[in-house]
Amino acid sequence: MGRVSQLPVVLATRAELEAWHRSHSERRAVVMTMGALHEGHLALVDAALRVASTVIVSIFVNPLQFGPGEDFDAYPRTLDADVRALAGRGVAAVFAPSAAQMYPGGRPSVRVVPGPVGEVFEGAIRPDHFSGVLTVVLKLLALTRPDVALFGQKDAQQLALIRQMARDLNLPVSVVATPIVRDDDGLATSSRNRFLSASQRQAALALPQAIDSGAAAAAQGAGVDEVRRIAGERLARAGDEVSVDYLDVVDSQTFTPLAEGVADSSQALLIGAIRVGGVRLIDNAVLER
Ligand code: PAJ
Repeated sequence: MGRVSQLPVVLATRAELEAWHRSHSERRAVVMTMGALHEGHLALVDAALRVASTVIVSIFVNPLQFGPGEDFDAYPRTLDADVRALAGRGVAAVFAPSAAQMYPGGRPSVRVVPGPVGEVFEGAIRPDHFSGVLTVVLKLLALTRPDVALFGQKDAQQLALIRQMARDLNLPVSVVATPIVRDDDGLATSSRNRFLSASQRQAALALPQAIDSGAAAAAQGAGVDEVRRIAGERLARAGDEVSVDYLDVVDSQTFTPLAEGVADSSQALLIGAIRVGGVRLIDNAVLER
């Protein structure tokens, strides 16, 4: 096969997507992204190819999930490079709609209400963010009609909300999560990492190191307060360039903070978010208990 034939077909409109559906009826997985593809996205794509014969990748920088003053305009848009990054992997199609294709009447008046999990942590700092995420995820599910949809553990709160939406609204899709992909220095890969200078990147490593030290302590039997203290100490040493949005140990489904000594069977997550310069970074680890 030549290189060109290994490129996924790029579908830019809902009509093109509709025509594509008519010729593809195999088991299908979707990987939804905002583009500027990196190893974290590609790991999701590879996981999708393991569970379905036909994989569709959506690339859409969703205006609905950015607040005023956030980085919607600055968000990297690299469609040609993204399609090339997918070449040869076995992806059948890329759905890369314009905002007018996705929101023909402007911002939709009916939107998904995330509920309490959408109001804490990321949701407290970014009001309406999760309503925008869930609304576009629901629309992309309706448009791409997958059997399986894959999301990264990196965005743990987004993942919890998508799982809850699938349960609460009986969506006919199974939601599969994949582990966090990190660069060699430990920083979780992110489309926004390209905006970090070398010294900012060095400072940002405080976040994965804090998460890692908390997770290691938990694996050795530390309680949640001790985990918070150990991770917090590492972040406190991060220096002036870093400001901490939050750091906590929460239930992975409800995102309520866990209390020391209270027995529960839920999965515990150590979550953190920082800002370095203008860049916001999030990270987390599932705690072994
Ligand atoms: P985006 O930030 O592009 O991420 C797309 C998918 O890649 C998400 O499921 C995210 O969790 C996953 N991902 C990102 N970085 C990762 C990493 N380092 N390791 C593993 N997975 C990673 O998340 C969004 O876009 C949007 O909110 C979207 C769901 C597409 C809706 O607009």
